[in-house]
Amino acid sequence: MNWGFLFYTKLNNILSFVRGFLYFRYMQNFEVINPTRIVFGKDQLGRLPELIHTISDKKRILLAYGGGSIKSTGLLHKILSYLTDFEVIQFGGIEANPQFTTLMKGVQLAQQNEVDFILAVGGGSVIDGVKFMTGAYFYKGDSWDVLLRKDSCEFKKALPFGTILTIPATGSEANSGAVISREELKEKRTMGGPLFFPKFSFCDPTVVATLPKRQIANGIVDAFMHTLEQYLTFPSDNMLQERQAEGILQTLIEIGPEVMEQPSNYKLASNLMWCATHALNGNLRCGVITDWTTHMIGHELTAIYGIDHARTLAIVAPRLYQNQFENKKEKLVQYGKRVWNLNGTTNEIAQAAIERTEAFFQSLGIQTKIADYSADTDHIAAIIKSRFIERGWLAMGERQAITPQDVEEIVINSI
Ligand code: NZQ
Ligand code: ZN
Repeated sequence: MNWGFLFYTKLNNILSFVRGFLYFRYMQNFEVINPTRIVFGKDQLGRLPELIHTISDKKRILLAYGGGSIKSTGLLHKILSYLTDFEVIQFGGIEANPQFTTLMKGVQLAQQNEVDFILAVGGGSVIDGVKFMTGAYFYKGDSWDVLLRKDSCEFKKALPFGTILTIPATGSEANSGAVISREELKEKRTMGGPLFFPKFSFCDPTVVATLPKRQIANGIVDAFMHTLEQYLTFPSDNMLQERQAEGILQTLIEIGPEVMEQPSNYKLASNLMWCATHALNGNLRCGVITDWTTHMIGHELTAIYGIDHARTLAIVAPRLYQNQFENKKEKLVQYGKRVWNLNGTTNEIAQAAIERTEAFFQSLGIQTKIADYSADTDHIAAIIKSRFIERGWLAMGERQAITPQDVEEIVINSI
């Protein structure tokens, strides 16, 4: 028996209890700023030149996009027709889960052409990729070191950029975070900061009409999980944020299956888009304690297996909530009652809330086990556990109660 470890675990359990029950419930102090102009709705692109001009008086811009959907949907053609006044250098080929090596080619192209603005046209991958490029544009050293958070390695300056969103999912159009992958290292790393808010984002719900069902389902689940990560901790005194989160969850449950069937329906598409933006524009986290552990484990599953981001969350979340059942029980009950209208004892409601969440993801056609995506699952739990230890992520979650051992168990149960 390792008495030192046992003592540490017991002490941490007691501290977790105190954290949850005494002081973190009060509305926390917060400061919030979101400088991104959201231009929401259809037929708004005519405002593009005017908005770029308000930011940059020069005329050379890099237009960055993904694998080509904007060509087949006709969006690229439309955008170019509004940019006749500008010199436009195109950079296509940013992958889903944007790759460091590809993005560095974009940085080089931007530098060679001395652009002074980047327009990102795409989903979270293109927008995140552009956030990274705007910082790397000015960085003298190896930009990967910034993603590794090596000592004193940070982006201190960034090019201005705007976005034209083509998939409602990540909220990247309205926040300053980004996630960048490096295939050869099987790594997926986060970055962000005030420099990386888009100057503007065009959010036109009609883009949903051309999305494959898989991507619509991904978008619904990602938005749902962004909300849960900022909600499923313990009840807080921030009554407005609690109800806003529940409003997003209920709206997604109501419209999710319908928008999959009718992606051209403007009422459904516009509500999905606004939910997704609102879920990660910085609003839900105001004054509350959050728990992003599902995302951190999920990023590892994408890095190792290439599973779509949202699907990794659908795999991990039910197992994480089960693992943290006692710590999250009170909030699971609130969630179960208010969002799913469940009745019963507290244990029954909390348990059913987890099951209803997983069933909702499955109803959208999303498989919720790692084995549904890969047969090679032998060492995955140990690998992820050791990565968490290496990075010093030893006490995660709203109560700092999720240890690397818990992470290992969560992954084993996700297989
Ligand atoms: O590349 P193209 O050809 O454009 O095709 C894309 C891509 O294959 C396609 N697509 C996008 N819009 C379309 C379309 N196809 C037809 N019609 C349209 N209108 O959809 C595919 C997926 O695109 P992607 O941008 O990868 O999806 P998503 O928006 O879900 O972004 C996922 C990335 O964002 C990161 C994820 O980790 C992942 O790398 N995230 C970013 C966050 C942030 N910055 O705040 C938070 C999230 O938690 C997430 O981690
Ligand atoms: Zn996400």
